[in-house]
Amino acid sequence: MPHVVTQACCGDASCVYACPVNCIHPTPEEPGFGTSEMLYIDPSTCVDCGACVSACPVSAIVPGHRLPDEQARFADINAAHFDGPAADAVRFPVDTAQRLPLAPISKPRQLSVDAPLSVGIVGSGPSAMYAADELLRHPQVSVTIYERLDRPFGLARFGVAPDHLATRSVMRLFDDIAREPRCDIRLNVAVGADVTLDALQRRHQAVIWAGGAPTDRRLDIENADAPGVLSATALVGWYNGHPDHADLDVDLSSRRAVVIGNGNVALDVARILTADPASLAVTTISRRALAALRHSAIDEVVVLGRRGAAHAAFTLPELVGLVDTGVNVVIDPADLGSAADLVVDDATTRAKLEVLAEVAGRPPGDGPRIRLAFHRSPSAVRLGPDGHVSGLVTDHTRIGDSGAVEPTGVSESIDTSLILTSIGYRGVAIAGLPFDDVRGVIPHDAGRVVDDGVPRPGMYVTGWIKRGPSGFIGTNKTDSAETVASLLRDHESGKLAATSDALSPLG
Ligand SMILES: Cc1cc2nc3c(=O)[nH]c(=O)nc-3n(C[C@H](O)[C@H](O)[C@H](O)COP(=O)(O)OP(=O)(O)OC[C@H]3O[C@@H](n4cnc5c(N)ncnc54)[C@H](O)[C@@H]3O)c2cc1C
Ligand SMILES: NC(=O)c1ccc[n+]([C@@H]2O[C@H](COP(=O)([O-])OP(=O)(O)OC[C@H]3O[C@@H](n4cnc5c(N)ncnc54)[C@H](OP(=O)(O)O)[C@@H]3O)[C@@H](O)[C@H]2O)c1
Ligand code: SF4
Ligand code: SF4
Repeated sequence: MPHVVTQACCGDASCVYACPVNCIHPTPEEPGFGTSEMLYIDPSTCVDCGACVSACPVSAIVPGHRLPDEQARFADINAAHFDGPAADAVRFPVDTAQRLPLAPISKPRQLSVDAPLSVGIVGSGPSAMYAADELLRHPQVSVTIYERLDRPFGLARFGVAPDHLATRSVMRLFDDIAREPRCDIRLNVAVGADVTLDALQRRHQAVIWAGGAPTDRRLDIENADAPGVLSATALVGWYNGHPDHADLDVDLSSRRAVVIGNGNVALDVARILTADPASLAVTTISRRALAALRHSAIDEVVVLGRRGAAHAAFTLPELVGLVDTGVNVVIDPADLGSAADLVVDDATTRAKLEVLAEVAGRPPGDGPRIRLAFHRSPSAVRLGPDGHVSGLVTDHTRIGDSGAVEPTGVSESIDTSLILTSIGYRGVAIAGLPFDDVRGVIPHDAGRVVDDGVPRPGMYVTGWIKRGPSGFIGTNKTDSAETVASLLRDHESGKLAATSDALSPLG
C-alpha cells in the first residue's frame, strides 16, 4: 500500500526532495504550493521505498498499511489530489559536495566569494531557524540568533497546540540547526530594548528581522474589551506557558465558551478547552493551565464562522484531526445550507464539506462538545450587572452578490461568560524599520527591507512579519530561502558593508 501524508504535515517539502520517483506534490516549484493545505502522495506512482518517512521532520508520513483508524481518511485525501490533472513536477538533484541544510529545499550552490559573512537574526521562530539553516550551508557564513524569550523557536514552542506532539517535534530539527558550530543563539535579548538594531547592524554585515506577528487582530464591536473577553493569543500563550501569558487568570466557570473566528487556532483552542484533562496531562501543556482545566465547568465551546462552511478558515487536515479522533463535534445541518450551495470546484473544499455534512448527520456524543456554527457574525458583547461578559449577540449572515458578508436581519444571543477572539494575528511596527500599517508587515522586495521602494542596505525580513500571519511552519522555509537568496546575492555583489563593531560588546 502506498505511503500517505497525514495531519501533522506542515508543508516544508523535505519529503519532495527525498522521494526517488517524484510522487509528492505540489512541489515548491509547482503552482499551488504556497496555498496548499498539505502535501499529497500519488498512490499510483509511490513505490513504497520509505525514503520520505525519515525526511519528514514531524512524522507526518505513514505507510498505508500502518495508518491508524483515526487517520484512515487521509488515504482518500491523498488520492483525491491526483484525481484531476496533476501539474508537471520539476525535481532538482541535490549536490552533496557541500553541507546539506537539515531542512533541504532547493539545490545548494557555491558562493562566488570567499569573504566571511556574519549575519544577525532577530527572533528564533521557524522563519529564523530556516533562514539560519539556509545560510549555514555556506562555510563562510556565521549566524547569531537573538531571541527575547528564555526559550527558543517562537510559535513552534509557544503556539503549536500542546497535544500536537508530532508537529512540536519539529523543534528537534531546529535544535540540530542551533547546535551547528557556526550558529550562536542568544536568549533573553530583546532587540530594540536590550540591544539596539543599530548596534546589531554595526556588529553584523546583514541583519534579518524574523520577529513574527506577536499581537492579535482587534475585534471592533461594543464591549470587546470587557472582562471575560480574551484573545486566542493570550489563551494559547497561557496553555503553552509563554512567559507573557503564563499567569493569566482564565474564567472557566461558565458552561459555555464562544470562540469568534474559525481558523486552525480557533480549533486548537476549542479542542484544548473541551479535552479530558487526563489526556492533556501527557502533553506539553503548562501545569498551571492543566490545574485550572481540571476544575473547568465548560461543557460546550461554540466556534463561530462569519461565512459559510465552504469558506471556513480551518484546513482539511485539522478538521479531520478533530472529527476522527473521538472529539464530540456537533453541527446544525441547517448551518451547512442546501446541497446546491455546497457545489464547489476545488477538491479540498469539497472534501471539507463532505466531512462537515457527515458530522452534521451524526448523533451527538457524550461529554463536552464543540459546536461548529456558520453564518454568524459577532455584533456586541453583552454584559451582566457586574460589568463582566454575560453573552454574545450575533447576526446571522449571508454572502451578498459582491461576495461580502451581510446580515440577514436575524440575530441571536448566546449566553456565555468567556469569549475568545481568534480572528488572526498582527505584526507590530519596529522602531527604526519601515512598516505597512494596513497589512501589519515590514515592506520588502524579495526579503530586502525597502523604504519607499528603496532597499535598505544590509537589512532583510522573513516569516510572518514579512508576508503576514498565514501559513504553516514549513511555509517559512520557502519564505526564508527567498530572503537568504537575496542576502547572499548582495554579499556576492559587494553590497554588504564590513562590520565596524564585530568585537565590541552589544549596547
Ligand atoms: C496558535 C498557533 C498555532 C499554530 N500551530 C501550527 C501548527 O500546528 N502547525 C503549523 O504548521 N503551523 C502552526 N502555526 C503557524 C506557525 O507557528 C507560523 O507559521 C510560524 O511560527 C511563523 O514563524 P515566524 O518565525 O515568522 O514567527 P514566530 O514563530 O512568532 O517567531 C518569532 C520569534 O521572534 C521573537 N522576537 C520577536 N521580537 C523580538 C525582538 N525584538 N528581539 C528578539 N526576539 C524577538 C519572538 O519571541 C519569537 O520567538 C501556528 C500558529 C499559531 C499562532
Ligand atoms: N495545525 C496547523 O497547521 C495550524 C494551527 C494553527 C494555526 N495555523 C496557521 O496559522 C495561521 C493563523 O491562523 P488563525 O486561525 O489565527 O487565522 P486565520 O486562519 O486567518 O483565521 C481567522 C478567522 O477569523 C475570522 N475573522 C477575521 N476577522 C473577523 C471579524 N472581524 N469578525 C469575525 N470573524 C473574523 C476569519 O473569517 P474570514 O475567513 O471570514 O475572514 C477566520 O475565520 C493560519 O495560516 C493557520 O493555518 C496552522
Ligand atoms: S515511500 Fe518512497 S516512493 Fe513513496 S512517496 Fe515516499 S519516497 Fe516517494
Ligand atoms: S511536513 Fe514536510 S516532509 Fe512531512 S509530509 Fe509535510 S511536506 Fe513532507
